[in-house]
Amino acid sequence: SRIAVLMGGLSAEREVSLSSGRECADALRVAGYDVIEVDAGPDLAARLVEIAPDAVFNALHGRWGEDGCVQGILEWLRIPYSHSGVLASALAMDKQRSKQVFRAAGLPVVDSVLASRDAVEAAHVMAAPYVVKPNNEGSSVGVYIVHDGANSPPKLSAEMPDVVMVETYAPGRELTTAVLGDRALAVTDIITSGWYDYHAKYSVGGSRHEIPANIPAEIEAACRDYALRAHQALGCRGLSRTDFRWDESRGLAGLILLETNTQPGMTPTSLAPEQAAHCGMPFPELCAWIVEDASC
Ligand code: DAL
Ligand code: MG
Repeated sequence: SRIAVLMGGLSAEREVSLSSGRECADALRVAGYDVIEVDAGPDLAARLVEIAPDAVFNALHGRWGEDGCVQGILEWLRIPYSHSGVLASALAMDKQRSKQVFRAAGLPVVDSVLASRDAVEAAHVMAAPYVVKPNNEGSSVGVYIVHDGANSPPKLSAEMPDVVMVETYAPGRELTTAVLGDRALAVTDIITSGWYDYHAKYSVGGSRHEIPANIPAEIEAACRDYALRAHQALGCRGLSRTDFRWDESRGLAGLILLETNTQPGMTPTSLAPEQAAHCGMPFPELCAWIVEDASC
């Protein structure tokens, strides 16, 4: 069948999405699909009408592609599409609102507030250490860490939105768990020499991924349980990936859920494909699973 792979787009994660999209398009061809690569621009709806695909594989990340906007277009056009629907996508992309959903589901998150840029730059919005980030971007784009003992509040770059999220800094190891359908795949421990920033995420050798993570069975089970419950609480479909911090000095109480990504990266350095492979599902098979799960 004919599959349109959506990639690129307009968000700060455009380059990441182009990489994800190319990988997925190649994998779907290997799996025997007729694939059309679509760099998502302002004419997306018209292009999709023209292509008339049997399904869309959404490889977009960030605003417009991961936040329910593209999903809405696909609903309107009645084209089955992969990953989460409109509501789950919109909820997950809004970090503040998704935390409310997680809290209601009994999942551990850190305190956060929305604040204007001006307020954030004028004075510490909360006691350091804390983190300032856009409420709706991924890949650590525009994340500021204000360390313990910092005298002055951060100066934000011009690209930061007018309203940002400020959250308590959660220290510890970086763990992540992908969910495929109703199954939590594995737990990866992401080992970096510093902060797991954009560079560490997408440079080959920028981080080391230990899979399965060398952590106590109790923490491994909790990551799987929380990731699956987060996926279900948001109403996600298909593939998602939930990121954690674990402060090992505090045991299970030190495990914090940071966020759920409804369009997790599918690049050569990305985590969800590695977890699927670890579970015996090679990349073409993973992409085929995702596209067969498409609906609208
Ligand atoms: N936002 C990037 C693509 C990820 O979560 O993998
Ligand atoms: Mg993210």
